[in-house]
Amino acid sequence: MARRRQLYEGKAKILFEGPEPGTLVQYFKDDATAFNSQKKGTITGKGVLNNRISEYLMLRLGEIGVPTHFVRRLNMREQLIREVEIIPVEVVVRNVAAGSLSKRLGIPEGTRLPRSIIEYYYKNDALQSPMVAEEHITAFGWAGTQDMDDMVALTLRINDFLTGLFLGVGITLVDFKVEFGRLYENDDMRIVLADEISPDNCRLWDSKTNEKMDKDRFRRDLGKVEEAYQEVARRLGILPEAGVRDLKGPETLQ
Ligand code: TMP
Repeated sequence: MARRRQLYEGKAKILFEGPEPGTLVQYFKDDATAFNSQKKGTITGKGVLNNRISEYLMLRLGEIGVPTHFVRRLNMREQLIREVEIIPVEVVVRNVAAGSLSKRLGIPEGTRLPRSIIEYYYKNDALQSPMVAEEHITAFGWAGTQDMDDMVALTLRINDFLTGLFLGVGITLVDFKVEFGRLYENDDMRIVLADEISPDNCRLWDSKTNEKMDKDRFRRDLGKVEEAYQEVARRLGILPEAGVRDLKGPETLQ
């Protein structure tokens, strides 16, 4: 296969030009960062697992009518996606107190929140993705009020659906982060779910023991990081056939 042009390299993924206009190839790396890249590491096999997990969750969300950028998985580490204009807002939903919410407001981790809480962060590495209000987002034109309404409605549906899906396999969806993009088709523009949904951007706790099964194991040096990601995939019934030992990237990327 021909070498593809790399368009963008992020902390956990690389985007390549897709095979046809309006498409991109999203490549999942094993690299992991935390605390705005102050902590860097590798989680062996993470890219393979996140590619699978994100494929699975985006397909299930698509089935209930949530529009996504996902087209199809291409191989162990790559998926074909629609090219979208990423809205520079990270939307976080919380069902149970944890992480920065616990720290900021002094609410013990594990406290069930009275209702799901949505927060926004400005997607900007140089500024360490600060928390912002809807006012900042609309005033600075990162997204319009209609975009925000669409994003909130989609986020709440995603949260309800994923909460049930994970609970069905013995996992509590504590919180997660999603990103949206603008998809232009003919003269229309639609807001679609973009980026990825994986243990990199969700907090997933075993619903019986509250054991952490997500990137907090890396952030907090809890050990057994790969095993946790693998267990999430196993419970969802989607462990890659070749297992996480098949770690080589596709030849085209070498
Ligand atoms: P937080 O408690 O650190 O604010 O994180 C809330 C959720 O957002 C958690 O599921 C992890 C996810 N997240 C990201 O995906 N990317 C980030 O850069 C941060 C800070 C959090």
